[in-house]
Amino acid sequence: MNHLYVFSPLKTGTIKPELYGHFTEHIGGVIYDGIYVGENSPVPNIRGFRKEILEKLRAIHAPVIRWPGGCYAEMYDWRDGIGPKNTRPTRISWWTKYDGKYESNEVGTHEFCDFCELAGAKAYFAANLTSVSPLHIRNWVDYATSPAGTTTLSEERRANGHPDAFDIPFWGIGNENWGGGGNMTPETYAHEWRRYATVVKNANPELKLIACGPNAEDWEWSRRFLAIAREHPELMSGYALHYYCFNREDNPVDFGEKDWYRMLWQAARMQVLIDRHWGYIRGYGLESQEKLYIDEWGAWHPDGSGPSRGANLYEQQSTLRDANMSAIYLNIFNNNCDKVDMANAAQLVNNLHALFLTAGEHCITTPTYHVFDLWKNHRNGTAVKTENDCGIIEFPGKTVPLRLRRVSSSASVKNGILTLTLQNSDYHGTISLKLVLCGIRASGKGVLRSLWSEHPTDCNTFENPDLVKPTESETDGVSLTLRPGEILSLSLPIEEDL
Ligand code: AHR
Repeated sequence: MNHLYVFSPLKTGTIKPELYGHFTEHIGGVIYDGIYVGENSPVPNIRGFRKEILEKLRAIHAPVIRWPGGCYAEMYDWRDGIGPKNTRPTRISWWTKYDGKYESNEVGTHEFCDFCELAGAKAYFAANLTSVSPLHIRNWVDYATSPAGTTTLSEERRANGHPDAFDIPFWGIGNENWGGGGNMTPETYAHEWRRYATVVKNANPELKLIACGPNAEDWEWSRRFLAIAREHPELMSGYALHYYCFNREDNPVDFGEKDWYRMLWQAARMQVLIDRHWGYIRGYGLESQEKLYIDEWGAWHPDGSGPSRGANLYEQQSTLRDANMSAIYLNIFNNNCDKVDMANAAQLVNNLHALFLTAGEHCITTPTYHVFDLWKNHRNGTAVKTENDCGIIEFPGKTVPLRLRRVSSSASVKNGILTLTLQNSDYHGTISLKLVLCGIRASGKGVLRSLWSEHPTDCNTFENPDLVKPTESETDGVSLTLRPGEILSLSLPIEEDL
């Protein structure tokens, strides 16, 4: 019998709801036929947005949604997406060269804010730094956030049907400026960031501005960018990190033990990325002002496994393995909630690591959606430390053996309830666990929710939409069993020990 310890006196901080955020880009099938089907569609919708997705986002309390990119953002002109729809231009976008699709601009600032409101989420806008001026972004901020009746642009917003300011608390200044966002050096971006952020912060001091951070383990980006940006800490609320788990040889729906471990190991590396990039933030003395915003994370499998069979760029199927990766990521975010203020799964629908797959009238949830559902009670809870003695799995890497914790976990306490989430990375082995509570004790029966399926490659399809879905049972919360690849969420009423 192994043990899982919950150390209630060891508190890490509050788990911000935004750790369970999302990302929607104008790419492939994310916006059109994903979240947006149009008002005249036979698919049930609210003002053009898929009703089923809205309801399911509300069910998991989706906190924040990032838009309009990604790479798309760096060629986006916000003026294309306002005014009567029949006068909006059709444009090439960043992605046209990859999939030949043109952008109709049917979904712009008003529509996206409407989508967020309908979903109960906050909006996070990614502003273009590469191909427009700071004044252009100042005008977007003015148009979207100036109080009713104050400026010419707020009057234009009213004429377009929205007198009140939109609620867009988060603004990213640039996206992946080390790559698609202008192929800049950290020094070039740092100076551009200071210029744009100064203007945007001045236009609306309430906004939280997020700077473009590194791609995965690009430590040099952090060291060199922060060395210049640190002179103006007042500009930056967040420092974005993007991290995808790639494996070019992988098959998303047909894999064995080796690729199961490889992908899970890559997800668990998120801890190393947080530690080291946070090291730079602390090293430069910025930790009280800036937190990490992991505004793109997920598995990036080779293309073509989704229902569109490759017609939607980057659309991929999502199995129990992707759900385990999600569980590992979300546990890491909880355990680092003193360093991470936001994290956005990339992307919401018909794309990388999606929560939904759609096509016309079809709309299904992936196993990853259910992980977000199992984790939702953590939000606004106080994170407490967990530890276990389940050991390490060692497996062959390309050059050296790789090591992965057998069980990942996180816990939080809120309103007399302990929420504990855990996941078994073992491809073969079932684990029996005794729960050891330190500083608290159970005061009643708990509810256990499990996400599991017979085969690691199991996924939900239009034909079989509920193959991987949670089950629920009552528990005394003392002993837990985790089958290979099983994901659990426990809610247990507790009392504090005196
Ligand atoms: O999510 C797809 C793309 O991945 C985004 O546009 C970009 O930011 C990242 O490289």
